Amino acid sequence: MTERRPVLVVHGGAGTHAAIAGCPEARKAVEEGVVQAARRGYDELRKGGSSLDAVEAAVMSLEDNATFNAGHGSCLTLEGAVEMDASIMDGHSLDAGSVVCVSNVANPVHLARAVMEQTKHVSLISDRASAFAEHVGIGTVNPSTLITEKSLRRLHSQPQFQASRLDDFYKQNPGSTGTAKDDNHGTVGAVALDSHGNVAYATSTGGINAKMPGRMGDSPIIGSGGYADNRCGCVSTTGDGEALMKTCLARQITFLMEQGRSAQQAVEEGLSYLQDRVGGSGGAIVLTPQGDIGISFVSKGMSWAYVNSPQIHYGIYHGEDNTEAV
Ligand code: GLY
Repeated sequence: MTERRPVLVVHGGAGTHAAIAGCPEARKAVEEGVVQAARRGYDELRKGGSSLDAVEAAVMSLEDNATFNAGHGSCLTLEGAVEMDASIMDGHSLDAGSVVCVSNVANPVHLARAVMEQTKHVSLISDRASAFAEHVGIGTVNPSTLITEKSLRRLHSQPQFQASRLDDFYKQNPGSTGTAKDDNHGTVGAVALDSHGNVAYATSTGGINAKMPGRMGDSPIIGSGGYADNRCGCVSTTGDGEALMKTCLARQITFLMEQGRSAQQAVEEGLSYLQDRVGGSGGAIVLTPQGDIGISFVSKGMSWAYVNSPQIHYGIYHGEDNTEAV
């Protein structure tokens, strides 16, 4: 097989990015976060790691960064709890793993990979996924360590919210001040191509703010939150989970690539379908086994970064105010 030049693309979620529009520091945090994640993932590829290693490392970096809605800093349920979803897929074998509504692991994407590699199943949920984490030596954490002041404030902005949770937080964290502007909800994800020509994707999320307890989004659903197949390419999606599930957006985009569309055409066409058919908003990143990249969104904003050479490219789309730095 011809050796491929490795490529890695990440996104930090589609959403309103109101914080970014009005706040240079928030914008900088998002940009730095996606760039750091892209570097982490690309380092794996540079060292000879697989596309799976790369997407896992990139997404773990975003999960560890409280700027993003995944892992630490996840959106909260109506009851103020963390319930995270994640998935990962290998485009060579079509093996896939996912976890649903997990609340006590720092890196749900790492657990999803363990489900893929260490069980016969694709998906584990909630407490049973946590029990599996302990069984395979993936440390669990106190769920409260994943909650941030920002996620509590975001929840507090919802009328249904039980305000006492925020009071509790301030009692435990007396120095906290916080900012009110931060509705960057979304999901994080990565797609990668390694030097052997294998593609992979990973997606992780805290879901949507003030969701019903037990709600599962698109991110752990293979074909909605992402898809990877060496025959056509890989996709990680973000946005309105219910709409993404109804349209199986990731599989739809890979189907369009199978039909001969370029990565960019496929992502744009898939997102138009999402918008026209169910009125959904969201975005996606796409990569083909030839290394062609597609990035698009039908929401007010989406942050992304990619590395396809020693150079890193990154930016945040925000309405008319699109930026791209090279
Ligand atoms: N796309 C993330 C979610 O709706 O859960």
